Amino acid sequence: MKTISIGIAGLGTVAQGVLSLLAENRSLIEQRSGVSVHVVRVASRSAKPGVDLHGADFSTDVMDLLSDSRIELIVELIGGEGLAKELIVGALNSGKAVVTANKAVIALHGNELPRQALRFEAAVAGAIPIIQALQYGLVANQFSSISGIINGTCNYMLSAMEEEGVGFDEILERAQALGYAEADPTFDVDGIDAAHKLTILMALAFGTQFEFDKVYVEGIRAITPTDINYAAELGYRIKHLGILRGHADGIEARVHPTLVPHGELVAHVSGVLNAVQVVSDAAGKTLFSGPGAGGAATASAVVADIVDTALNSQRPSVDAVVDTSKAILPVAQISSAYYLRIPTRDEPGVFAEVTQILSSHNINIEAVIQKDGHDQGESVDIVLLTQDTQEAHMNKALAQLEALASVTDTVMRIRVAPQD
Ligand SMILES: NC(=O)c1ccc[n+]([C@@H]2O[C@H](COP(=O)([O-])OP(=O)(O)OC[C@H]3O[C@@H](n4cnc5c(N)ncnc54)[C@H](OP(=O)(O)O)[C@@H]3O)[C@@H](O)[C@H]2O)c1
Repeated sequence: MKTISIGIAGLGTVAQGVLSLLAENRSLIEQRSGVSVHVVRVASRSAKPGVDLHGADFSTDVMDLLSDSRIELIVELIGGEGLAKELIVGALNSGKAVVTANKAVIALHGNELPRQALRFEAAVAGAIPIIQALQYGLVANQFSSISGIINGTCNYMLSAMEEEGVGFDEILERAQALGYAEADPTFDVDGIDAAHKLTILMALAFGTQFEFDKVYVEGIRAITPTDINYAAELGYRIKHLGILRGHADGIEARVHPTLVPHGELVAHVSGVLNAVQVVSDAAGKTLFSGPGAGGAATASAVVADIVDTALNSQRPSVDAVVDTSKAILPVAQISSAYYLRIPTRDEPGVFAEVTQILSSHNINIEAVIQKDGHDQGESVDIVLLTQDTQEAHMNKALAQLEALASVTDTVMRIRVAPQD
């Protein structure tokens, strides 16, 4: 039996999940892996008398974990960037291994961190062992695309908006009351959290640096029940997706609301669940789905990393060779099909004006929904699905459309999921 002595930083949702899981499934973990995990110290800002530390010492200063010579591995579960990064660097520099669930610190500072003894399975898609899959199970594969639902808050909100036909603000309040969204929901609903995770997946699958700044990010604030209904009429669901695609000239890395055809499995992943689809040369299309958050679910991934470190401490957390030849493509260069909702005056000739502008940019229309207004002059939506076109062309067409006197408001544009 190998033993590993660990210290845990933080005593919140995930840390409590780790303490419980290690206690409840101790003998199972030992029998299955041959690893015995001992929590010798927990350090967090404030004590939580109701939480059973199972005999571990307690400190209010997380830096105490660095000076505790018994500790071989520190589990960083305080979140944020400043102190968490300091703790991780301090641990790695003093020869302690690190396991973290902190996607922000990896996505934003991963390039500066020594990665030999750093594991972060829980940072992407919670319980889903997607990093293990990329690094172990699919190690023999070249990846062509990785895409999926990697933010449970957005998926819960879009699912509830579809089921109940209510708007963003009402659903956000509910998500906050249920604990699915933070008091400050910016990171989740504006797509930043998903972009952190996509940055990590990109580094792992395509051998890039951690390049968060080059990921195109759009959140879900602009999505309305009207768009969800039109998308359904066209045979699609709106999902907030992270998308990575490898091309000869570079990599697409984008996070945005996306129309997903009803026939795709990802379209049916609802609520707080996550799902990641990987397309690779030998294995083909594989789909991983499960809880992307929650104390116990995230603890499952954290404990897997602790055990993996005990068993394979020599394995680097990210490919040692970084491929700097692969550029991350600006979003203007990507090609996509688009959903467009164009609010127009209900007047004769408007549809012809719209199609004329699109065709002048070589944008072909795949499907149309046009509702009759009740009174002449009333605003009506022209809803279009286009064929694939380059985003730069679409941007020019949208600027011209919005300049038309007959177009009454901003055009809503949602990209359609690529066919992989
Ligand atoms: N929750 C999830 O489902 C989930 C899923 C995947 C990944 N993650 C990641 O896991 C990490 C932890 O998340 P969480 O949900 O467990 O957070 P949380 O419930 O807010 O817990 C954070 C813990 O760290 C402590 N802490 C914060 N700042 C500290 C400081 N400066 N010094 C000492 N202690 C400090 C907090 O102390 P107080 O109790 O005094 O506030 C709290 O005990 C984050 O990086 C998060 O992104 C979470």
